[in-house]
Amino acid sequence: MATLRLGDTAPDFTAVTSEGTLNFYEYLGDSWGILFSHPADFTPVCTTELGTAAKFKDEFDKRNVKMMALSVDGAASHMEWIKDINETQNTKVNFPIVADVERKVSDLYDMIHPNADDTLTVRSVFIVGPDKKIKLTLTYPASTGRNFYELLRVVDSLQLTANHKVATPANWKNGEKVVVSPSIPTEEAKGIFTKGVEEIKPYLRLTPDPTI
Ligand code: BEZ
Repeated sequence: MATLRLGDTAPDFTAVTSEGTLNFYEYLGDSWGILFSHPADFTPVCTTELGTAAKFKDEFDKRNVKMMALSVDGAASHMEWIKDINETQNTKVNFPIVADVERKVSDLYDMIHPNADDTLTVRSVFIVGPDKKIKLTLTYPASTGRNFYELLRVVDSLQLTANHKVATPANWKNGEKVVVSPSIPTEEAKGIFTKGVEEIKPYLRLTPDPTI
């Protein structure tokens, strides 16, 4: 299995999940997708992550993003664990969790890093565009829970920059100024970004978010 890189096609798969057998591409349809792995069921950090993901579902829905989680335990275990997540995180898990007992999806997506752990998946995140290309990968160790505000922020940036010739600066948040793509000369940028282009350096030009 080769490492998946940005721009690669996200491998399709059919897998047993907590919501029955699902095909990844059919599940995504024309939406964006987030596939994220968890080391194991009934573990504390994963419990908080899945509860948080469930609470963020409305925000992901608004952005047309479908979530799919994964761990290497079975569907019956997932169902029992979901009860605990719902109870302890005061939410309702509202997306499928792949039961990757045979590690097929984990292998396909290189989610097991043997020098970290031989059998359990690390905390991988793959954001997939409607074209099924990988737009972002993140890898966190088992001991560090992910920041779902950051995942939303990244989706906002990916969706904005997919449609406009801009990029988003450090710590950017939705609605803040963006940078003009380096490939556009400033005079041309002034014609495209009619709300104004602020030239700080010839290669560093700011413009208001073109979508608002
Ligand atoms: C957790 O999700 O809490 C966890 C899982 C594996 C190792 C360490 C923590």
